Amino acid sequence: MSLSLKLRIGPLEFDTPILFAPLAGYSDFAFRMSLRALGGLGFAYTEMLSPASLLIGKARRLKSLTATSEEDLPLGHQIYGAQYDTLCAGAVLLAQRGAQLIDINMGCPQRKISVQGAGAGLLRDPKEAIRIAAGVVKSVSIPVTVKLRLGWDTENLVAHEMVPELEAAGVAAITIHGRTRCQGFSGEADLQGIRKVVQAAKRIPVVGNGDITSPAAALKMFGVTGCAGIMLGRGPLKNPWLIRDIWNEMQGLPALPPPTRGEWIDFAGAHFERMIELYGPIGATRLYRKWIPQYLRRMLAGRRHLVEMMQLEDAVEMRHAIEELRKTRSIEIPERRMESVDEAAEDMATELIDVE
Ligand SMILES: Cc1cc2nc3c(=O)[nH]c(=O)nc-3n(C[C@H](O)[C@H](O)[C@H](O)COP(=O)(O)O)c2cc1C
Repeated sequence: MSLSLKLRIGPLEFDTPILFAPLAGYSDFAFRMSLRALGGLGFAYTEMLSPASLLIGKARRLKSLTATSEEDLPLGHQIYGAQYDTLCAGAVLLAQRGAQLIDINMGCPQRKISVQGAGAGLLRDPKEAIRIAAGVVKSVSIPVTVKLRLGWDTENLVAHEMVPELEAAGVAAITIHGRTRCQGFSGEADLQGIRKVVQAAKRIPVVGNGDITSPAAALKMFGVTGCAGIMLGRGPLKNPWLIRDIWNEMQGLPALPPPTRGEWIDFAGAHFERMIELYGPIGATRLYRKWIPQYLRRMLAGRRHLVEMMQLEDAVEMRHAIEELRKTRSIEIPERRMESVDEAAEDMATELIDVE
């Protein structure tokens, strides 16, 4: 298998072909910077942005959604929507504000977005999707990429058919998530489906996406599909060192030891500090709750810590609680019980986030 260790998209060249996915609610400035610090990341994306909200400057979280810095490069800004004019105008605004690359979301399966014809909804009208891509390309002088699913459902696998037209429209790269809209996140990413999309592209790179949670899965994505780059979403949320480990493996270097409990605590603490800078102490403490279950699980901290930390409202107390974890011994959770601890933690996190 020949592995390309670099990735080019239009005039941009990245140090590694490993991309961190746009993830609404997760791929913010604070987490991107935390991931970048661990190494191996070639390129990252913002969370998806509504161009309509950008244009009227009214998005509630607009400032934090678009926050970035020189150290946060290279970075792509992702937009979603169904209206040609709004998407073009949103792209122009972002380019004027210094965006390096615009990505158009043609994969979001969420009902409220896709039934309005945005996100994966665009896959139901490939002609319009291509018209929009061409319009956005013409509106800006920076590269424009598109992120797609394989199709709306298994009877309508349109992505590979759209590729030549997207290329002709001037799109600089395509990311393909190997599922249909109707699959949501169920089943497994279809690597043969991704391969078909890769083979349909004659001039531009295709990035493979879906279920990469280990270096072996990353190599499999490259090997089976022939993609030029890989994109990871959920994997690095659970294991931020995953991108570093994949990059290591791709270079043929010996595997690094997994992070120690101390390194997890350092990571969790630094992430929280970055969130305070981004959201202020109150916002950061609330938003940090969704990270606590997975961080504590990795540190093998017990349920008592979980319950206590999920209730904290004050950033000073949260900072203290993270530091206190250094003094506690990790508890052994029998493998059999691990699942139920995971489930309890996830239930609790969802419950608290929903209440906000
Ligand atoms: C919580 C969450 C938020 C997401 N937000 C976005 C988004 O804003 N834009 C987008 O194109 N895809 C979004 N996705 C899809 C991911 O970018 C990615 O395509 C998908 O998770 C498959 O990759 P993975 O198996 O590595 O997670 C999101 C997925 C998740 C789980």
